[in-house]
Amino acid sequence: DKGNHRHFMEKEIHEQPEVISHTLAHYLDFAGGSWRPLDMPFDFAKLDRLTISACGTAYLAGLIGKYWFERLARLPVDIDIASEFRYRDIPLAKGAAALFVSQSGETADTLASLRYCRKAGISVASVVNVRESTMARESDVVFPTFAGPEIGVASTKAFTCQLAVIASLAARAAAARGTITREEEKALIRQLCDAPRLAGQALELQRHIEKVAHELAQVRHVLYLGRDTNYPLAMEGALKLKEVSYIHAEGYAAGELKHGPIALIDETMPVIVVAPHNRVFEKTVSNMQEVAARGGKIILITDGKGAAQASVKAFETIVLPDTPDLIAPIVYALPLQMLAYFTAVFMGTDVDQPRNLAKSVTVE
Ligand code: F6R
Repeated sequence: DKGNHRHFMEKEIHEQPEVISHTLAHYLDFAGGSWRPLDMPFDFAKLDRLTISACGTAYLAGLIGKYWFERLARLPVDIDIASEFRYRDIPLAKGAAALFVSQSGETADTLASLRYCRKAGISVASVVNVRESTMARESDVVFPTFAGPEIGVASTKAFTCQLAVIASLAARAAAARGTITREEEKALIRQLCDAPRLAGQALELQRHIEKVAHELAQVRHVLYLGRDTNYPLAMEGALKLKEVSYIHAEGYAAGELKHGPIALIDETMPVIVVAPHNRVFEKTVSNMQEVAARGGKIILITDGKGAAQASVKAFETIVLPDTPDLIAPIVYALPLQMLAYFTAVFMGTDVDQPRNLAKSVTVE
């Protein structure tokens, strides 16, 4: 049932504050500001490496996880898309554990990668939304998301719930490995608890985003740029747009712009820059200047400070609430989803059932 929404995708975008909260409640005691006990087949403190694999949007959640685990917990992460992972004959060290990410828990390539790791004798964990799935059954431990059934083929709420789980695992790993202080740990827990509220505030930008989407619906190509965790998020924004609107979109690391894609920039090319005011903000601003100098239309997604300090004239600036670094990818996912959604609505595509796509990819 879509309730009072036009499409499941819209409904699922709007459910996010609630389902993120529901998901986090499994891992965190909001009131006590502490972790809930987790059944763990391995000890984060003793791990040498974490290997992550998944497909599509779930892979991009894993890629954001790599930044978190490495930065917070000093835990090296290898990550690959499952269709490559399964055939690469990867040597897996005994001190490694594997983490798989999947909404359905049935994706053929991810499942094959999971079985490869099992056979190699390392611990297997999975972040899945469907508790009765094959991946859930075949894992040593399941870290569930509580997104509820996701009907729209393009993943929205499952993605942000995956991020919520992975962020809390990374913070927990940091605490276990002693790479953060007790104070820092408490602060991370507080930040996670704040994610549902900030996601709710992001939804309030709907009107403005609808207006920007009206512009996007006129073009054939869109470039998305970001640095750090906003680089995978830029790829996710691009994936969402191409899936539901059929507009060609690419997500790039902002620093890679001058190594090729800058050749595409002209007055007809919208460039969506995902750039909260963080440690790499100034670097991203210099990439925006390169775009502006070539007449590219910049759509900047940032916070108040970023909007004030971006010394570049953007065509549109979408301003999100101030968001702690850890949870920024969760909050910034929402405007990207809404942008894809409204663009698709303007294009008149079948938003919930885009052509050629299936919700669960059980063949390779
Ligand atoms: C994108 C999308 C797909 C899935 C991918 C993996 O919007 O939905 O890219 O993320 O097919 O599916 P799961 O998570 O079920 O393994």
